[in-house]
Amino acid sequence: MKKIILTIAAAGLCLSAAYCQTTDKNEKVFVVAANQIKAHVQPTMYGIFFEDINMAGDGGVYAELVKNRSFEFKMPLMGWKEIKQDGADGSILILNRGKADDDNPRFIHVTSKSPKGYGLNNEGFHGMGVKKDNKYNFSVLAKLSGGATSLQIELLNSKGDVIGGTSVTPSSKEWKKYSASFISSETDPKASLNVLVKGKGAVDLDMVSLFPQDTWKQRPGGLRADLVQKLADMKPGFLRFPGGCIVEGRELDTRYQWKKTLGDVATRRMIVNRWNTEFAHRPSPDYYQSFGLGFMEYFQLAEDIGASPLPIINCGMACQFNTCELVPIDQLGPYVQDALDLVEFANGAVTTTWGKKRAQLGHPAPFNLKMMGVGNEQWGPQYIERWKIFEKALKKKYPYIKLVSSVGPDPDGDKFEYLNKTFRELHADILDEHYYRSPQWFLDNVKRYDNYDRKGPKIFAGEYAAQSVATVSPDNKNNWKCAMSEAAFLTGLERNADVVNMASYAPLFAHVEAWQWTPDLIWFDNLTSYGTPNYYVQQLYSLNKGTDVVPVTLDNQTVTGQDGFFASAVLDTKTNDVVIKIINTSMKGHDASFVINGPKGLKPEGTVTSLQSNDLDAVNSIGEPKALSPQSRQIVLTGNAVKLLLRPYSFNVIRVKMVN
Ligand code: AHR
Repeated sequence: MKKIILTIAAAGLCLSAAYCQTTDKNEKVFVVAANQIKAHVQPTMYGIFFEDINMAGDGGVYAELVKNRSFEFKMPLMGWKEIKQDGADGSILILNRGKADDDNPRFIHVTSKSPKGYGLNNEGFHGMGVKKDNKYNFSVLAKLSGGATSLQIELLNSKGDVIGGTSVTPSSKEWKKYSASFISSETDPKASLNVLVKGKGAVDLDMVSLFPQDTWKQRPGGLRADLVQKLADMKPGFLRFPGGCIVEGRELDTRYQWKKTLGDVATRRMIVNRWNTEFAHRPSPDYYQSFGLGFMEYFQLAEDIGASPLPIINCGMACQFNTCELVPIDQLGPYVQDALDLVEFANGAVTTTWGKKRAQLGHPAPFNLKMMGVGNEQWGPQYIERWKIFEKALKKKYPYIKLVSSVGPDPDGDKFEYLNKTFRELHADILDEHYYRSPQWFLDNVKRYDNYDRKGPKIFAGEYAAQSVATVSPDNKNNWKCAMSEAAFLTGLERNADVVNMASYAPLFAHVEAWQWTPDLIWFDNLTSYGTPNYYVQQLYSLNKGTDVVPVTLDNQTVTGQDGFFASAVLDTKTNDVVIKIINTSMKGHDASFVINGPKGLKPEGTVTSLQSNDLDAVNSIGEPKALSPQSRQIVLTGNAVKLLLRPYSFNVIRVKMVN
């Protein structure tokens, strides 16, 4: 395969603007055959991969502000500190209910020996992001345990001044939930929360919680609205959840178990997050899974943003990069049952056991589940052995559910070859390919799917991201070089939409102070967030996915890197548009003409939306969230042709309306 070399040296040269702005006046003529439909684009084509990595869930999109709210972290007081205001005195004990409450064993016993000022402070997830005039909902499970006390709740800014507060008065010797709301008088990304006991006495506390009221759709105990909005703005075709390796767990004991993530949050047993210990260079000792964002919330999120749900279930294997623990075949029954019950939970009538559960949780209508992943990034014959058992049971009961199957962590090599061959022999529905590779790999592989078997399994490009330094290097950046190479590669997916039915960048979210893995699609701090250039590439593809693939050629050839150009074209039969995607990966601008053959006529005006930078190292940031973001302008056609200057290092989406 001819290599299109996109070198750092070239990027360096290009920093000289005069050189960059060189335009080749030899016009390139691209021809679109808008009357030759080659494939249909699936509505699911561009979607979202969600995993609670980089504090995407707890400390991220799950809007809870209190860290370790139920004292279940290995170190029960992690995130908390004792407060003694004005010389107040008291003591704290961690109690464990043991078997009496397996799901939430620990609570805290606070004894105050002073009239006021003794208690605890919670630091939040790298602070608590609070906004001026926003309302905050506090709640706690409490039980009086000696003497009458009330709780004084104080929101503190990063300097320690009180910027909001309320009080609650526990009145019972039984566990009871108490709630109160207050307004914050300041905006602060690093606020914290005091829970102080007033009066002498003792009280037991558990599930100490603080949520902003302005969650997504104002749902109590819900999700961070700005982050969900970014997902909704992608108009994703599917939402894959809950991962990722998190499905597998480091060991089977810490695998994801969806049934344990439903109902009252106090009964969702907190466990360690596998990314807590994964990378020695990015230790995250305070990373746990509260499951406040559980399967009901994932299904609801998918519905809210118009995405088809794609849950991935554990197939009896723990992460093969870690312990490789396997469930013996004769003990796989409960795992298979979890998969079957999940379909019933999502789609079953309210008269079924799990359909009823869904209705009780507030969603009597089915979630219209059509596909499910069996295992995450598994490999080897042990996977096939287990997969066959799942497949048999699922296809027998739910033949309409399409199964997503892993072809391993790499896009080539022994693991891939074995699984690719075996799953094709087994007539698998959808194969999940992963590629965390260099930008050059993305350019070189634009023809990857051109020769895939048209009658074989469909492809889900389930996890991909160009790595600017090396795979999983902590120095990887979400820069324009990577994003542009992904844009070029995606033309190959789109051209092969009859085979490639789904694609998602991974990972999705990263907290700027609490990440383990880079690059990521969307970065955030406690108050704000930004889409990377890679985000805008995904978004442009998703918003312009169209319905039918048509050919676009240069000198009668598919455009797969000649002179640095990559292109694909689709019709959008819903809007009657022709949509052309053209990437110029070269350092030279180029005059170009797009001749659109086929339609009876074309409206004289269209639009072009571009992502462009002369700097291949360009990135977005919290300070400059839209430094590199799409810019649109109108264009005027000459007959059936669009004439454009294709700027160096640019990704352009041209939309032109057909007249019938
Ligand atoms: O996206 C990060 C990780 O990469 C996923 O959890 C895993 O599936 C892959 O190895």
